[in-house]
Amino acid sequence: TAPRLIDGFGRAVTYLRVSVTDRCDLRCVYCMSEHMTFLPKAQVLTLEEMDRVATTFIGLGVRKLRLTGGEPLVRKGFMELVAGLSRHLRSGALDELTLTTNGTQLAKYAEDLARHGVRRINVSLDTLKPDLFRRLTRGGDVAQVIGGIDAALAAGIAVKINAVALKHDNAAELPDLISWAHQRGCDMTLIETMPLGEIDEDRTDQYLSLKDVRRDLASFWTLEDLAYATGGPARYTRIAETGGRLGFITPLSHNFCESCNRVRLTCTGTLHTCLGRDDASDLRAVIRAGATEAELQQAIFAAIGSKPEGHDFQIARARPAVARHMSTTGG
Ligand code: GTP
Ligand code: 5AD
Ligand code: SF4
Repeated sequence: TAPRLIDGFGRAVTYLRVSVTDRCDLRCVYCMSEHMTFLPKAQVLTLEEMDRVATTFIGLGVRKLRLTGGEPLVRKGFMELVAGLSRHLRSGALDELTLTTNGTQLAKYAEDLARHGVRRINVSLDTLKPDLFRRLTRGGDVAQVIGGIDAALAAGIAVKINAVALKHDNAAELPDLISWAHQRGCDMTLIETMPLGEIDEDRTDQYLSLKDVRRDLASFWTLEDLAYATGGPARYTRIAETGGRLGFITPLSHNFCESCNRVRLTCTGTLHTCLGRDDASDLRAVIRAGATEAELQQAIFAAIGSKPEGHDFQIARARPAVARHMSTTGG
């Protein structure tokens, strides 16, 4: 289907991210505060409701569907949701069905994901050092994540490693992390820390411009710009020495909103048309009021019609740009 979701700036929305749960088995310090409370079940969409909304978006021209969290693999019945949505891959309506995961449960689920047509996943991994990983995630075991990554690769799923660049925590380790990923045949993307939700740390203090990181890497590696694109916000280079791809996600140092193609559905059925804005449409209220397909489409058109031009992230500001946490919006 031709894209039918065109926003007020002429951008076609072809990428939907669905956060299937706000819960997570880790609590990364840059994502959550120590005392996060999670949503009561009644507020959370059922798997059937999620399938319905995603399917409506696909009917309106969405070609890429990414399931996120919290941690998507901790949602009960997650694999049934994936199995159901995979029909859109088989029909050719969807180009990609994928997820972003912290990797802790991957060893258990990798083969099922591959069987349902998941070809490529993104795994968050900010450090290979067990002690630092435990501190950053408030208790996580890095060996479990590495085991999960290896299980996914063994199942034939391509893995991209995501790392948030943190000045005081992993900045010095980034070359090792990149080399490690590339040795395993994984792409790697670096991400600038974004001001979403109150956390216990000072983000200003941890912020690292990827312009600077890139310049440092280029002092000992050869970085070649690539035209490679996934539909996500990263701009990719190839590192001649490792042979691998390295992507940069730079919401702060280089805004990429003019090419934005995506919107987000939270696990409570709220549609956010920009990661860095408060704009929200309550699709749960629409579907629970018994909306017809045409009425649901109408609500989606209305939301897309007022998609903001871009975010207003500034790192050196007392309050985060938006109050909700990354774990609510799913990144
Ligand atoms: P690919 O399909 O592999 O390109 O993945 P992706 O970058 O679209 O998704 P992923 O879940 O791996 O996100 C990586 C990082 O990019 C996360 O920190 C997201 O919050 C961030 N990100 C994704 N889309 C946007 C966006 O539209 N705006 C901003 N500011 N950040 C985004
Ligand atoms: N800024 C940037 N990236 C973040 N992530 C979580 N919180 C933030 C933040 N505040 C990352 C996770 C994961 C992806 C979905 O978003 O590490 O890789
Ligand atoms: Fe959980 Fe992912 Fe946030 Fe870490 S980044 S706390 S793994 S949702």
